[in-house]
Amino acid sequence: MAAAGSAVGLGNIWGFPTQVADNGGASFILIYLICCLIVGLPVMIAEFAIGRNTRRNPVGAFKKLSSGWFPPLIGLWGVMCGVMILCFYLVIAGWTLGFIFEEIFYYMGMSTASNWVADLGNGFKNSIFTVLFMLATMGIITGGVSNGIERATKTLMPVLILVLIIMIGYVFTFDGSVEGLRMYLLPDFSMINTNLVFSALGQAFFSLSLGMGALLTYGSYLKKNQNIVESAVYVTIADVCIAILAGLLIIPAMFVAQYSGITIMDDDGRLFASTTLVFDVLPNLFKSMGGFFGLLFGASFFILLSMAALTSTISLLEVPVSYFIDEHRLSRRRSTLIVGGVVMAAAIVVSYNINFIDILATIFNNVGLPLGGLMLCVFLAWYWKSENAIEEIKHGFENLEDGYFPAVWKIFIKYICPFLIALVLITTLYNLIA
Ligand code: TRP
Repeated sequence: MAAAGSAVGLGNIWGFPTQVADNGGASFILIYLICCLIVGLPVMIAEFAIGRNTRRNPVGAFKKLSSGWFPPLIGLWGVMCGVMILCFYLVIAGWTLGFIFEEIFYYMGMSTASNWVADLGNGFKNSIFTVLFMLATMGIITGGVSNGIERATKTLMPVLILVLIIMIGYVFTFDGSVEGLRMYLLPDFSMINTNLVFSALGQAFFSLSLGMGALLTYGSYLKKNQNIVESAVYVTIADVCIAILAGLLIIPAMFVAQYSGITIMDDDGRLFASTTLVFDVLPNLFKSMGGFFGLLFGASFFILLSMAALTSTISLLEVPVSYFIDEHRLSRRRSTLIVGGVVMAAAIVVSYNINFIDILATIFNNVGLPLGGLMLCVFLAWYWKSENAIEEIKHGFENLEDGYFPAVWKIFIKYICPFLIALVLITTLYNLIA
């Protein structure tokens, strides 16, 4: 449950629709699903297995399983990616928090206040909400990753799904929505290029919380009688379904917004997807509902989204915090204060310069996480050995060896996943230079 809470977050509701819009719709979704299934899922199983076997933070885990200089570097890379992702993730999470107030102020007729919170470029306001969000995350982290997260995820996730479904029904009462649906469901294969595959792979890693040891750390809290493969399948399904639902709401809503005069296409007639588009489109949809219903759906949507983002920032911060606790002998409180303080300062800088969001996301989501995943596969297959991983996965998975799973997973983690990730990273790099 906590892993599902980590996976479901802004990546699903902000990241996925933005990427779909940016990459031509249904063809992106197709490649994205393939990435989740043939790269994401096997890597998630690997992270859980390494975590549960070592019961350590990422750096400690890789150190425990082998010697040499390379393994701890994979963990350190993960810790760094986590810190960098948090720096921009917190700003977007701050926006969702702010929009709860925007909806309330709007309902109460306080238009100056509601416009102030809705201004995504206001650095001072952004920094306030960013800091508030980080303080909430740090508060929960100092208490340890508690049962609270699991309970909150268990109750709030179904409500989020319900709100999404109702909103989808509502959006299809408007003109333009069907045009959005067409773009969302009918793939245009001519859109598939290296850049699309690169974005889809990065988005898969980001949305599933892979490649930096977050799920490895959560795996270290798993019990021996829990079935790792089953858990990974559930987390992947929940995450993919919520992303697909969010897109089904937001892409048609973009086309509806076009009718009310918001620019959603660039000069070439391509959907123009900026980091802020989701936050332009959705509040307008809630406003169109008007009155109490607008408030009800608007405020609950942003409350749920903030909670989803919170369970994600917790998992992002837990990695560097547990690293400093285990490897540098700091207390949980001290570690949280130090890491949290540094990240907060950096996030404030980003909240004043929101164009950093795109840059950081490209470097750390699209390159950093897949690279982390690649190193993890290489480590598992060539340092720790996949037989040992299978031994670990056996706990909680009865009759594992009777089925095809061990053989298939081994081929994926040893050859297919590292090959595909390397291929995507290398071709992208090549295109960039050439
Ligand atoms: N998966 C989360 C989302 O979709 C973000 C996230 C949380 C994450 N923990 C992570 C991304 C670890 C990469 C690695 O919003």
